[in-house]
Amino acid sequence: MRTHYCGEINQQHIDRTISVCGWVNRRRDHGGVIFVDLRDKKGILQVVFDPDDAAMFALAESLRNEFVLKVEGKVRIRPEGTANRDMPTGEVEVLAQELQILNASETPPFQLDDDDVHEDIRLKYRYIDLRRPEMQSRLQLRAKVTQYLRSWLEDHEFMDVETPMLTRATPEGARDYLVPSRTHSGSFFALPQSPQLFKQLLMMSGVDRYYQIVRCFRDEDLRADRQPEFTQLDIETSFLNEDGIMSLMEAMMQGLFKTVMKTEIEGPFQRMSHAQAMERYGSDKPDLRIPLELKTVSDLLSDVEFKVFSGPARDPQGRVAALRIPGGNALTRKEIDVYTEYVGRYGARGLAYIKCNDIDQGREGLQSPILKFLPDHAISEILRRTGAQSGDLIFFGADKEKIVNESLGALRIKVAQDLALVEEGWRFLWVVDFPMFEYDERENRLTALHHPFTAPSTQDADELEANPAGMLSRAYDMVLNGTELGGGSIRIHAMEMQQRVLKLLGIDEQEADEKFGFLLTALKYGCPPHGGIAFGLDRMVMLMAGASSIRDVMAFPKTQTAACLLTQAPSPVSDQQLKELSIRLRKPAITD
Ligand code: AMO
Ligand code: AMP
Repeated sequence: MRTHYCGEINQQHIDRTISVCGWVNRRRDHGGVIFVDLRDKKGILQVVFDPDDAAMFALAESLRNEFVLKVEGKVRIRPEGTANRDMPTGEVEVLAQELQILNASETPPFQLDDDDVHEDIRLKYRYIDLRRPEMQSRLQLRAKVTQYLRSWLEDHEFMDVETPMLTRATPEGARDYLVPSRTHSGSFFALPQSPQLFKQLLMMSGVDRYYQIVRCFRDEDLRADRQPEFTQLDIETSFLNEDGIMSLMEAMMQGLFKTVMKTEIEGPFQRMSHAQAMERYGSDKPDLRIPLELKTVSDLLSDVEFKVFSGPARDPQGRVAALRIPGGNALTRKEIDVYTEYVGRYGARGLAYIKCNDIDQGREGLQSPILKFLPDHAISEILRRTGAQSGDLIFFGADKEKIVNESLGALRIKVAQDLALVEEGWRFLWVVDFPMFEYDERENRLTALHHPFTAPSTQDADELEANPAGMLSRAYDMVLNGTELGGGSIRIHAMEMQQRVLKLLGIDEQEADEKFGFLLTALKYGCPPHGGIAFGLDRMVMLMAGASSIRDVMAFPKTQTAACLLTQAPSPVSDQQLKELSIRLRKPAITD
């Protein structure tokens, strides 16, 4: 039907007769001439209808937005002064010789170039939303990324193997999506939270190097960078240690950014221990584009009169930390109140601060409601540690370590965004040396920080049992600009170690056997040392596209409440279907 895409036409095509197909992006009537911007996946082309051909002109007058057309015509240069340099096709236009309306359209529910449309409307009419050039280019970017990754991995001996979607629960820490079995009444499949156990079994199967671009399902609270159904680039290799895996993955990311983003990423990527990341940034995925750091000042404040500080300073699980804000002196009382409320969302009970008017004047040059509580040596040491200058402001968090890290960690990002302190660029880093376990106070037990198949940094199970809380694991996360792009680890490949780790997690032998018996058995039959990683593909593309939500780089995403507005899923099913599945819904309670 066509000879060219709209977006391809330029001065090289002048005087050529072409056919193009696409959607009416906009129609403009200009004193006897009609202009139509015709849009297809490669761009927008201006078509001109001349009144000379009365029949065609009348047809052109009937065109509305989103009509689908085929136009044949001659390419010509636009008249002096009418070129549009913002458009790749802006130097030329097509003088229509034939017009065919392939389909009409009702008035679309929103203007494609309206930036202020509610996302729910976009999601309901996603097929219209995806026509927008911005969305087209995101889909194209995503396809380029997956194509590059596949070919890189194939070139490096990785093999694509599919794993089941109808399977058993995999412990990644979220709730499962369950699928009832018709043939096994009362039993359920779980959709995989990741292919973790299958990829380990593939190593035991001699696959050596595996990858898969695979859908994962997690029923968890959703945020801008989380979807219930998302895609991982899932990778596993045998006979490589963490250094080997990390350097392979760095090379892959460098190649990806070079090819797709035309950007050189310097290697090797910085590595930072989990403890360092928490200490300096209050986060296990620090955004290194932000040049602000938390400084511990607990040791200076254990004897001060101000209990807000001395309490946490003395508490072994407490922390008092300071965060210098360059130029923060200019913050108003009201702005500080807003930040105080902001950290409150993370459990902080206040946000003490010192304004540094003139640090050369010592105490006299400072301004703060808490100054009177602080001895001179503490003040001067706080100024020294934070590197404060005149004109700065220092915020303080004092509480349990977890609350201080979370609240000041979040504040660091918020203030940096508000004051435009976030630097440009791509800041990759590896976070390593994670603790093996986390203590869950509510349930009074240890939980795996990564997952229960991650190897501890010792091979001696007795050593692990002697001090599980102090043990580090062989896990690593790749972080980019404050987002966890991917995480992985070297796995346990010895059956006894696996059993003892499960025991430490409070999973007794019987439960272990029920849930992971197949894995434990497989470990007995010649399991190679192995490890791997999984990247969040949606997150990766989101960052590369400069989008603010992973929904923007998924063709058909779900809402924050895990529903699909386009298909109205999830939806009720018929009684007959429920019966076949032996499921009886509880009748709504009768209330009076
Ligand atoms: P993990 O649970 O860290 O590891 O997941 C790997 C990566 O997947 C992405 N991700 C998500 N993306 C969008 N929506 C979600 N709900 C979501 N959850 C996770 C993140 C994350 O870094 N089996 C292990 C990997 C391994 O050990 O090899 C795993 O799944 O970018
Ligand atoms: P108050 O004694 O409650 O008036 O608090 C004095 C200052 O300390 C105020 O600026 C509070 O915001 C701040 N503050 C109170 N609790 C904390 C805390 N846990 N961490 C940091 N600052 C706090």
